[in-house]
Amino acid sequence: MKFRPYGFPILDLSQRDTAFDNHIERRLSSLRNKFSDDEAMREMLASGDPVIYEVYESRRPEVAGELASGLSIVRPGSVGAEYFMTKGHYHSVRDTAEIYYCLQGQGLLLMENEEGDTAVEEFRPGRVIYVTPCWAHRSINTGREELVTFFVYPANAGHDYEAIDATGFRKQIFAQNGVPTIVERASVPKRLQ
Ligand code: 6PG
Ligand code: NI
Repeated sequence: MKFRPYGFPILDLSQRDTAFDNHIERRLSSLRNKFSDDEAMREMLASGDPVIYEVYESRRPEVAGELASGLSIVRPGSVGAEYFMTKGHYHSVRDTAEIYYCLQGQGLLLMENEEGDTAVEEFRPGRVIYVTPCWAHRSINTGREELVTFFVYPANAGHDYEAIDATGFRKQIFAQNGVPTIVERASVPKRLQ
């Protein structure tokens, strides 16, 4: 852990393994209950367990005042008509915000809070998204290339996946006639829920 100011490259792919001190790969099998189309999931898993997204983190002491940062890289693709996406989470410390900066690709950041509100913001290169405190967030790749975003959040925020695991996000993003379309989970046919 560095305790003097320092810099690190985020665009140079070849330096990722040295620029960051933690690397997570999420494979399709770990996202079973996230995608609606179980049949499509079964078919895909029958021929392998691909990486759906990766996270490179520059971790800091998990104390107030420190900021954790990193890269989130979501592969292009879909399970049935549902675009590849991250698990999605609230921060355990709810009143902690997050900033996402899109470096490459196109997609959406799906967000919701516990008051029943939902927000969807677009990812495109050069665009920043500010996730206000108390909003869960999930990155969704609606493009044909990797969706690469740089994120920053309070290092003591923590990740609460259970809250989202319990209900799923209220909205889902499907390709309808090739167009990313926001759909109410409740309106998704039962066999796909
Ligand atoms: C965070 C960030 C971000 C996020 C990744 C992967 O709080 O750490 O939101 O790094 O973790 O985009 O998404 P999941 O954590 O939902 O798998
Ligand atoms: Ni987060």
